[in-house]
Amino acid sequence: MLAKEVRQRYIDFFVNKHGHKQIAGASLIPENDPTVLFTTAGMHPLVPYLLGEKHPAGKRLVNHQKCVRTDDIDEVGDICHLTFFEMLGNWSLGDYFKKEAIEMSFDFLTCPADKGGLGLDSANLCVSCFEGDKDAPKDDEAAAVWESLGFKRHTKGKPLNGGQIWFYAKKDNWWGPAGQTGPCGPDTEMFYDTGKPKCPLCDTKGPSCECRKYIEIWNDVFMQYNKNDDGSFSPLKQQNVDTGLGLERVVALLQGVKSPFETELFKDAIDKIYELAGIKGTDETAISVRIIADHLRAAVFILGDKFGVAPSNTDQGYILRRLIRRAIRHGKKLGIAYNFTDRIALIYIDFYKDVYPELEEFHEKIITELQNEEEKFMKTLIHGEKEFEKMLPNLLKNKEKILPGRLAFKLFDTYGFPIEMTEELAKENGLKTDKQGYIDAYKKHQELSRCGAEQKFAGGLADHSEATTKLHTATHLLHKALIMVLGDHVAQKGSNITVDRLRFDFSHPDKMTDEQLKKVENIVNEQIKRALEIKCEEMTVSEAKEKGAIGLFESKYGDRVKVYTVGDFSMEICGGPHVQNTSELKSFKILKEQSSSSGIRRIKAVIG
Ligand code: SER
Repeated sequence: MLAKEVRQRYIDFFVNKHGHKQIAGASLIPENDPTVLFTTAGMHPLVPYLLGEKHPAGKRLVNHQKCVRTDDIDEVGDICHLTFFEMLGNWSLGDYFKKEAIEMSFDFLTCPADKGGLGLDSANLCVSCFEGDKDAPKDDEAAAVWESLGFKRHTKGKPLNGGQIWFYAKKDNWWGPAGQTGPCGPDTEMFYDTGKPKCPLCDTKGPSCECRKYIEIWNDVFMQYNKNDDGSFSPLKQQNVDTGLGLERVVALLQGVKSPFETELFKDAIDKIYELAGIKGTDETAISVRIIADHLRAAVFILGDKFGVAPSNTDQGYILRRLIRRAIRHGKKLGIAYNFTDRIALIYIDFYKDVYPELEEFHEKIITELQNEEEKFMKTLIHGEKEFEKMLPNLLKNKEKILPGRLAFKLFDTYGFPIEMTEELAKENGLKTDKQGYIDAYKKHQELSRCGAEQKFAGGLADHSEATTKLHTATHLLHKALIMVLGDHVAQKGSNITVDRLRFDFSHPDKMTDEQLKKVENIVNEQIKRALEIKCEEMTVSEAKEKGAIGLFESKYGDRVKVYTVGDFSMEICGGPHVQNTSELKSFKILKEQSSSSGIRRIKAVIG
């Protein structure tokens, strides 16, 4: 079964058999969510609805979502880690709960292929449930549903076998909140036997054993708790289900291959990499090939997104830069002459454009940015080589003839030199490299960047605090005021809100004058003074258009959308949330107007 078919079957199963509405996947770069760099699960864009906001498409939703997870970027290269992946997900927003969710999952996995399921053998399935702790009880409820489907609770000391229910602690069987606070709950995970022989730990560890005899394919999260600021858990207003099925993994499983890299999702790209390198696969080269194939696929999707970014030295742009450069380094390692990233990108664009038409829309941007980055990086490689030559005389003077680890790391960090390349270069010049010193410097650096990443998440996922809600309403006022002052060509190109400020990107060819900025500021402040009420209505996209609503018109929420009106001033398609009255904003001030990218301006502003 090809990926395309699995994706479609999943949607059809939940739409036709279980009354779900398909919603479009969200942007890979989160909107109005300062706490995460990328969308990492289908539930991210749905947080307001998991917290109780009404979703215009109803209470049963399904989609396929583009995701990027970079926490284990350094592990990519093995056969299972991916930075970009697709998540198939279904949600119940206060509708069905554990019984129906588990039954639907089981049915989809095991229902014969000619009846719309995946036709997997239930004897090869194992599941896990939450064992309970001080915050929440053991999930006997979920386990009982699995029992009704023929599964048996595993007893301690007995061997691991298919058809068993294992109980694990929070670390394994609890999902969320994605940040510090927010919706979360116990989950039940579904594992499938790869057929590999057991390792010595399998019988003790069960299906989550790291040897990966079993691989986790699906996670049903029962979002029934909210994690509060003080670390306590309280029941949510509504009980939700959030599930996520990893498309690439399931496809590999269904095709009987060991890894997603052996499926059609990567095949053409991998063949091309080997062709360009003029080599045949060996275990050693396979790692580099997988890194290139994975990183460039992720880069294509990050560049080819509605809010796609370009390589830079901050936030998403920096992750993108690392992905591209790491791919280039490994290309060089395989002996590929430069300018190959665009050729691999073309393969992905072509392969995915039916399902993700934005890749075709941003075709040119993807290719140009990759070419530019590749050229830039080749230059730093040359600079790095020069730097090395400068270091050389001094190093040759010392008796040990050693290239210290910190210098090897500098070559890596500043010029992107892989350690292998540095070692080679050193050897050619009669030097030995202190590899351990390099590893230590690298680890230290990793710890520092991990701290940075944790800080990024520390604010909590989709922080719907009072401050951000107010800034969100201010963004609507600003958007409308910009259209009034600059003209109808102004359209939102991105929005990012932290508790301290809003940031709004919009299309406009020139730098704004001081006079224009003042005008915009005055208009917004006037609406705040007028104490306008904010109302939310649901309507179809065409009704919204007819009424003159602004905003992003693609039917992100299916046919019906939410429209927020601010008194008689603005009307905008939006998921919310917003304050009730503009007077809550107190005042509005623009801090900065600058270029964001070609034809796009950026405004940073504060309120209160
Ligand atoms: N949010 C859960 C996960 O990411 C289920 O989709 O695994």
